[in-house]
Amino acid sequence: MTFSRKRVGVLISGRGSNMRSLVEAARAENFPAEIALVLSNVADAGGLDFAQKQGIATAVVDHKLFGDREGFERAMNETLVAHGVEIVCLAGFMRLLTPWFVEQWRGRMLNIHPALLPSFRGLHTHARALEEGVKIHGATVHFVVPELDAGPIVVQAAVPVLDGDTPEALGARVLAQEHRIYPLALKLVASGAARIEGARVRVEGEPEAPDALLWPRA
Ligand code: GRF
Repeated sequence: MTFSRKRVGVLISGRGSNMRSLVEAARAENFPAEIALVLSNVADAGGLDFAQKQGIATAVVDHKLFGDREGFERAMNETLVAHGVEIVCLAGFMRLLTPWFVEQWRGRMLNIHPALLPSFRGLHTHARALEEGVKIHGATVHFVVPELDAGPIVVQAAVPVLDGDTPEALGARVLAQEHRIYPLALKLVASGAARIEGARVRVEGEPEAPDALLWPRA
């Protein structure tokens, strides 16, 4: 049987630990996607170094060199297309995207957000989760739509909030889960097992649900 991997472009702005988790997962022979390009809008993003050392193609499209958002996005789009990218993964990419760019990649662009959406859209999610006193926090991988931090959800991971938590401690536990769910979500999407149906994502062969996570346990 022939097996063709989907070509993925990962967009980063910084350290790129989620990009790294995707690169590592894609090393497996049976992973349905390959990382074809790592693109950054920041020339000295830490993640670029890692990608180059892995022999992955990298590109920098610096938003500061463009007069407007559209010119920047057109340049990014051309770079993605030139590398034959089929799926885009936003991984700590810190630019807002216009509806035009989102439309180019509709149904083919994922984002990871460090909260259980639709709670805590935007920035500083761990500090806000502590302020609100939630007992369960987490991370979400979703398809990108024009509205910020919204769109059909592919995978979520839940993390208990502990009494002594600081934003940093909680954020570190959430990040560890991000590194599990982004490769899983990409696998489901690239293989075709996850499909958008209206506002939801249906996953083929979904296993039986485990018990609910109760926190704290009495
Ligand atoms: C992650 O917390 C991700 O959820 C958010 O930005 C952060 C990026 O971290 N969108 P990294 O660059 O992947 O390490």
